[in-house]
Amino acid sequence: MSDIIKIKTEYLNKLKNVSDLKEINQIKSELFGKSGKISDEFKKLGSQNSEERKKISSELNDTKSELQNLIEKKIKDIEINEINLKLKNERIDVTLPERTFNRGKIHPVSQVIDEISSIFSEIGFSVEEGPDVENEYNNFTALNTPESHPARDMHDTFYLDKNKKFLLRTHTSPVQVRTMLKGKPPFKIIAPGRTYRSDSDQTHAPMFHQVEGLHIDKNINMAHLKGCLNYFIKEFFEVDKIKMRFRPSHFPFTEPSAEVDIGYEMKDGKIIIGEGDQWLEILGCGMVHPNVLKNVKVNPSKYQGYAFGIGIDRLAMLKYGINDLRAFFETDYRWLSHFGFDPLDVPSSYRGLSR
Ligand code: DAH
Repeated sequence: MSDIIKIKTEYLNKLKNVSDLKEINQIKSELFGKSGKISDEFKKLGSQNSEERKKISSELNDTKSELQNLIEKKIKDIEINEINLKLKNERIDVTLPERTFNRGKIHPVSQVIDEISSIFSEIGFSVEEGPDVENEYNNFTALNTPESHPARDMHDTFYLDKNKKFLLRTHTSPVQVRTMLKGKPPFKIIAPGRTYRSDSDQTHAPMFHQVEGLHIDKNINMAHLKGCLNYFIKEFFEVDKIKMRFRPSHFPFTEPSAEVDIGYEMKDGKIIIGEGDQWLEILGCGMVHPNVLKNVKVNPSKYQGYAFGIGIDRLAMLKYGINDLRAFFETDYRWLSHFGFDPLDVPSSYRGLSR
């Protein structure tokens, strides 16, 4: 029996019983690899005379393609078998009930912060941030509130050390200081964020949110402050007209200072902003005190401007009809799924300010 026939018989036999790809690949390389059996036979051809070579090479080519075809067919069979097995074992039962999943919601406070940022950005304010842990200087002293000042007690501050050098910021006003210290005027920023005071009841939580506003330039006056707040409140509450009143007040860091109330009325248990003769306080504001400007190396004889601080949680409660502030921070998923926002809900204040 010639070598070629021997190889052929041996491997046809072997191939009959193969059932996995690994074995097939092994056989493939035994036959057709660099020093595979068939490859070797081809190498031997060189030493034959031309007539023999013709005969043997045609026999060899036939054997080669016969074996190759068989191998290909085996591979296909094995693959089909594997797929069939998979289909059998991994059958999907479309009648099974779906798996439940919880879709996240945007917290009303986050939503309102986005809305506020978007409204102010339309009139040229950029957004700044400051840390929740502040030093006493930025939170009080630089804001014209020296150590013995009674306003310090009013803030029910959470101090973080015995020497009262570090604290949880009691308002977002220290971001005014940080912003002015790191840059040069003009400044036109808002700074939303968390604030802390030791206080808790239906309308006060120890952690709450404010947005600070600051606009300093060469000719900024109270009329600009009024115009800016008027625009903001209308956009925020999505009304064409509002009633707004400035009440004289006192903050150490502004002079003059005012608190702003907006007019509202109750209709069928709902609060209507911009109508009626009830007043609701929503923010504090004023012209930045010259001492504050001096503390942050801004020359008050050249630059002046206004600042304001708005309680964000209060705005969110008013706009979305939520009446207990504490629920905001109880992380109750049922509450969030009721009052939260879908990520794709676009508030009208985002839709271009065309009104
Ligand atoms: N920081 C004040 C507070 O928390 C609010 C405030 C009032 C901020 C007047 C201001 C301002 O920027 O000008 O009570």
